[in-house]
Amino acid sequence: MELLREKKYIRIDQVSQKDIDMLILKVNSCSWRQTFHIQPVSGLLNDPNGFCFYNGEYHLFYQWHPLGPVHGLKYWYHTKSTDLVNWENVGIAIQPDDYFDSHGAYSGSAVEHDGKIYLLYTGNTRDENFERHPHQCIAIMDAQEKITKLEKSVLDNVPAGYTEHFRDPKVWKEGDRFYAVIGAQRTDKTGGVCLLSSPNLLDWKFEGELDTELDSFGFMWECPDYFEIENQGVLVFSPQGLEPEGDLYQNIYQAGYVMGKKIDLQRKELVHGNFIELDRGFDFYAPHTMVDPTGRRLMVGWMGLPEIEYPSDINGWAHCLTLPRELSVKDGKLNQKPVPELQALRKEKGEVADRIKDEKKLYDGFAGVTYELECEFEPGDALEYGIEFRAGEDEKTVIKYDAVQGKIILDRTLSGEMIGSAYGTERKCRIEGNVYKLHMFVDSSSVEIFVNDGEEVFTSRIFPDRKSNEIRFFATGGSVAFKAVKWDY
Ligand code: FRU
Repeated sequence: MELLREKKYIRIDQVSQKDIDMLILKVNSCSWRQTFHIQPVSGLLNDPNGFCFYNGEYHLFYQWHPLGPVHGLKYWYHTKSTDLVNWENVGIAIQPDDYFDSHGAYSGSAVEHDGKIYLLYTGNTRDENFERHPHQCIAIMDAQEKITKLEKSVLDNVPAGYTEHFRDPKVWKEGDRFYAVIGAQRTDKTGGVCLLSSPNLLDWKFEGELDTELDSFGFMWECPDYFEIENQGVLVFSPQGLEPEGDLYQNIYQAGYVMGKKIDLQRKELVHGNFIELDRGFDFYAPHTMVDPTGRRLMVGWMGLPEIEYPSDINGWAHCLTLPRELSVKDGKLNQKPVPELQALRKEKGEVADRIKDEKKLYDGFAGVTYELECEFEPGDALEYGIEFRAGEDEKTVIKYDAVQGKIILDRTLSGEMIGSAYGTERKCRIEGNVYKLHMFVDSSSVEIFVNDGEEVFTSRIFPDRKSNEIRFFATGGSVAFKAVKWDY
């Protein structure tokens, strides 16, 4: 959906309440509205921003264009929660109404300092020729949750050697200094990450580029995030411009990480292993992490992608955030688990255990549109086994293990309304051993599948008819035993 440039930059306070109410009516009439994911009241949501824990609550912000499902003038929208499950819509946090963010309050992050939350973000501006000029900006949230922007930006030029694509600072504290990684495009049109530092969050210094082993890896790295976990240094980022390679890099843009030694801030160096995609599904981008008071590293991503149209667009809204996941390190890789708090959503429970052979079976109580399903398999000699869900007469979404290829496959060829079909309708990845567990969270228009206790995750939007609610277990070319538990949500 393309909008005229002038329309994309209309501010919410220039629109009448009547028009907003009509937009919200249209949004609420959509049968694909989610039930347990963070989604916008109207318009478009993209990156999660400023995830933090402050005064006993989790605060999570996101990129928001209120007036329609397009990437127009971006605001920061504020949600908060005491339990990571029930989120309260607080409202607009940052308005793009200053000289340094006139064309969008773009992505950024949060850190607590002196009893307040400092939000470091990119102010996007455009000049009379519509050329971008990014500023790095600070807004401060006090204990009453009042958010005030500084009067001036804290870094208002792009360092030599980089283009105007210089944005998305992710801040952390190390000793008595603050550091931030920031996404950048070099003037030779390759992506990288730069390092900023500050003694007080108000005066920022450009330290230089972070030296990684990925010299030419896409044309831009968006939304970097650096953290340490189990004595490893991890740099998460969303590179744009990678060509597909076998099963890898199938989406328009990627999101993943490199892991290795802790960052060397003096030398501005990160020694690391290969780039690994964080998610194997169709819709996952711009993940953002925080560490909570219990020491958990939590991650939330945008369940969507830039430059792709989605079926809910006609209803005036697009996208949602993923469920919060806890990260850990397993076998040299990041492992992701849905946070246990989500169990509070569990209602009616259904259970089944069976052995199936060359067949597809439905079970009483196993159907639905919004649910959690945990299925443990004891693989026998089946060549393929898995689950069809949100299935009906002509529709189904399939997750299966192909024992011949040793791969797990998510197939949304028949999932309902098509999304980004130019990028294919199957996603797969290799699994060491076999698939012994699928843990799925199905909402009205999405699925998140944690494979083998978080070894791999497939995150995807799906847009089936509400009547497509069957769950079918199947095995082909042999048998598999399984036990499954389902909770309605
Ligand atoms: C990633 C991104 C960021 C930018 C934001 C604007 O999806 O393009 O780089 O800050 O979205 O909404």
